Amino acid sequence: MAAVLPAMIPEAIISALDLFGKAFIFPEETDTSYVVLSLDHPLNLEAFTLCMKVASELSSNREVILFAYRTKDYDELNVWQEFNGTFSLYLSSPGVHFTVPGLNTFGSHICVTWDSKSGHTALWVNGKRSVRKFLRPGHRISPQGTIILGQDPDSFLGSFEKVQSFVGEISNLYMWDHVLSPCIIQRVFLDHSFPKANIFDWQSLSYECTGNVIVE
Ligand SMILES: *[C@@H]1O[C@H](CO)[C@@H](O)[C@H](O)[C@H]1NC(C)=O
Repeated sequence: MAAVLPAMIPEAIISALDLFGKAFIFPEETDTSYVVLSLDHPLNLEAFTLCMKVASELSSNREVILFAYRTKDYDELNVWQEFNGTFSLYLSSPGVHFTVPGLNTFGSHICVTWDSKSGHTALWVNGKRSVRKFLRPGHRISPQGTIILGQDPDSFLGSFEKVQSFVGEISNLYMWDHVLSPCIIQRVFLDHSFPKANIFDWQSLSYECTGNVIVE
């Protein structure tokens, strides 16, 4: 007789929840806690604006993963705070570094923009833009990947490292498939009347938490 496999208990997938006023809280350094964001349609991007509010007390001489989008073989789109306190955007291996004020306990509002046509990229902190940099003109971000908060996957959804994990709070996460104007980025920062995000939107987010992540 075939052995009866123990029932897999899927973690609750919360669909399209309005997280207005809430945050994902990662209370401790782990290599097991993370949030997977569900996508309505596959990412296949030639431009994007990614915004989020991040609060953390992690010291700046540590890598901190802020956002990871990985397909089977590649880290397609990763945002980090590096050992030296710079913020970086990587599209597969090539990356750029921005020297801006580091994470802090009160929270920073961060937006990253990138456009394939020009390769133009910038980091916005609390509505203010960094110097513009150039990254991978002509590149396209591939579909069929997974977006994770809290950990950096070194393989397809595995091989997490505690020392790279995120500890703190992430909220107000929005992503658009185009570059927003400076005026709209200001509005996103002020959390005041801006267009609905068409990749994911904090006010209608589908996600799945694993491990010690509190939504509050
Ligand atoms: C910070 O660290 C990154 C990644 O190691 C490196 O590429 C970059 O040049 C460094 N920037 C500064 C200003 O030290």
